[in-house]
Amino acid sequence: MQNQKSLFQLDPDVHYLNCAYLSPQLKSVEQAGMEGMKRKNNPMYIKAHHFFDDAAEVKQLFGQMINAKAQQVAIIPSTSYGFANALNNVPCKKGQHIICVSEEFPSGYFAAHQWAKTHDAELITIGTEANITASEWHEKIMDKINDQTAAVLISSVHWSNGIRFKLKTIGAKCKMLGAKLIVDGTQSVGAYPINVVEENIDVVVCAAYKWLMGPYATGLAYYDESFNEGKPIEESWMNRTNAMNFSQLANYDHHYTEGAGRYNVGQNANMIQLPMMKAALSQILAWEVSEIQYYCESLMHQLFDFCNDIGAEVVEEDFRSNHLVGIALPESVDFDELTHCFQTRNIISSVRGSRIRISPHVYNTQNDIEAVIDAISICSK
Ligand SMILES: Cc1ncc(COP(=O)(O)O)c(C=O)c1O
Repeated sequence: MQNQKSLFQLDPDVHYLNCAYLSPQLKSVEQAGMEGMKRKNNPMYIKAHHFFDDAAEVKQLFGQMINAKAQQVAIIPSTSYGFANALNNVPCKKGQHIICVSEEFPSGYFAAHQWAKTHDAELITIGTEANITASEWHEKIMDKINDQTAAVLISSVHWSNGIRFKLKTIGAKCKMLGAKLIVDGTQSVGAYPINVVEENIDVVVCAAYKWLMGPYATGLAYYDESFNEGKPIEESWMNRTNAMNFSQLANYDHHYTEGAGRYNVGQNANMIQLPMMKAALSQILAWEVSEIQYYCESLMHQLFDFCNDIGAEVVEEDFRSNHLVGIALPESVDFDELTHCFQTRNIISSVRGSRIRISPHVYNTQNDIEAVIDAISICSK
């Protein structure tokens, strides 16, 4: 893939390496949002079907990305909302527990914590030991999953250190033992391939403003068929089978729309955000997720080699992704000086815990990675 910077409006003087924080906006996504905003200038042209058409397309596109049927996709406002819908429908038998990894993003952690509290069950957090490697961490997760596990809630790529857990292995064990695998896909879906069928994933919840390149306050979730009779956290009229028939809404229809339709957030027909989401997903699918990952790999291998040379710690190769890496720098690098150096050189990344998180995308070039390497070299004693 060629560099795609011309499709964005990034400030040319900035090395933006922070998609894990917020993706920059595609011009096509901005355009879709502007058109969506203007639509309400003349509400008489907005018909009943307009409340449903974009949502249907967004679900289809997201389903295509994760290998799911469109009807199993729901539109949500945030991951916390998506997790609540999932975990409210995971029952707990006496003695069961839920598993999470340490330093999980708070929306996932609090959802798991709340489930455990509600059911007077144990929340088992794995990976709390210092200096644990990704493969050891993974083995510990695998060891802990047993016939008392009700659910595993885990990120596909850990938001701060960049570990990409082997979901297929975890999913196979969960399936064998009847545990639900609930995945926070926020830090990988759109940039690293995921296949809910092959990986035996029961639920995927994603905020869309990072690797899905959509607007803020929009998210997408997949719930497998076992959730189709579940209880949603709210009761929107839009999720009923008669919703398109505006003149008959008070003939209350107690049937939910098919699949995961019951889990859509109320007022999900956001006529600004959904067209933006549609434009973003269409562009990502046109690029192809695997190609995005290859592109990031072509940029990042130079940084990985450099980290190796200076003794900086990055996740071992087998558990790494190329679009998000948390680098633990050696003591020879002055962290404060480096932060200052990044600022003066317009290198935009995030500090997460004791790591610098570098997260490139198709608008980055080798020049951006070289700027990072230069800055770290200058700040090494
Ligand atoms: C792994 C992960 N999950 C979720 C979120 C966002 O959570 P929410 O949608 O609940 O605001 C983030 C934001 O940084 C994240 O990194």
